[in-house]
Amino acid sequence: MSAVLELEHLRKNFGATEIIRGVDLTIQAGERHAIIGPNGAGKSTLYNLISGLHEVTSGKIRLRNHDITNRRPFEINRLGLSRSFQVTNIFPRMSVFENVRCGVLWSMGCKYSFWRRVNGNVEVQQRTEEILESIHLADKRHIPASLLPYADQRALEIGITIAGGADVVLLDEPTAGMSHTETARVVALIREISQHKTLVVVEHDMSVVFDLADRISVLVYGEIIASDTPDNIRGNRAVREAYLGTDFV
Ligand SMILES: Nc1ncnc2c1ncn2[C@@H]1O[C@H](COP(=O)(O)OP(=O)(O)O)[C@@H](O)[C@H]1O
Ligand SMILES: [Mg+2]
Repeated sequence: MSAVLELEHLRKNFGATEIIRGVDLTIQAGERHAIIGPNGAGKSTLYNLISGLHEVTSGKIRLRNHDITNRRPFEINRLGLSRSFQVTNIFPRMSVFENVRCGVLWSMGCKYSFWRRVNGNVEVQQRTEEILESIHLADKRHIPASLLPYADQRALEIGITIAGGADVVLLDEPTAGMSHTETARVVALIREISQHKTLVVVEHDMSVVFDLADRISVLVYGEIIASDTPDNIRGNRAVREAYLGTDFV
């Protein structure tokens, strides 16, 4: 096994408030790693630090052999890491096709800024088609994103997240607000798209977490209190105490 993503003594303060309080975490190549924890624990903040959206207060973030601490989001993306957001983040008036193509173009960056007519670019078209197929939205390509059912919108968002070909993918609550059926569909999709990738997923639905994850880390008030296999997490006393009174199993 080799480490793909490593967080070392990571800290983040907002003003005087410590939100991330010394996180050490190693994600191995090819694993599906879930991060769970109560609301406000700092899960999204952790993603913001890893993806370069927020500056870290102290500590280090390593992506393979690159130190990506406080690098800019697009640089981190070019090094192969991509993340989705907790709130659906698509261009509502653009079509499904155009949304995915935006993701593809963005990942290619300045390399293609000289191309006036995006339509004529075969590589971009092909990549966009591949993504549409993989998220099962090829037949809805012309529909404006805002008119898609919610689960399709989240699938589209996953498509945009993987459009650049990143092999480390961070998803933030991909099944939030979904029915059982919608959740099952999105979980199946996550399974498919993460097959040859490293996946980190923040998720509140415990059945999804235990179904999907090879390993689980539990973040409580900015600290990781356990990082282990699903079975060991289930039996972990500190974790059970942190989830006392909930339907955690
Ligand atoms: N940009 C920010 N400025 C100030 N406080 C923030 C900011 N972002 C998040 N926080 C605070 O950090 C804490 C953790 O938030 P968040 O990372 O969103 O938690 P989670 O995703 O685990 O629910 C919350 O108390 C939140 O109010
Ligand atoms: Mg969050």
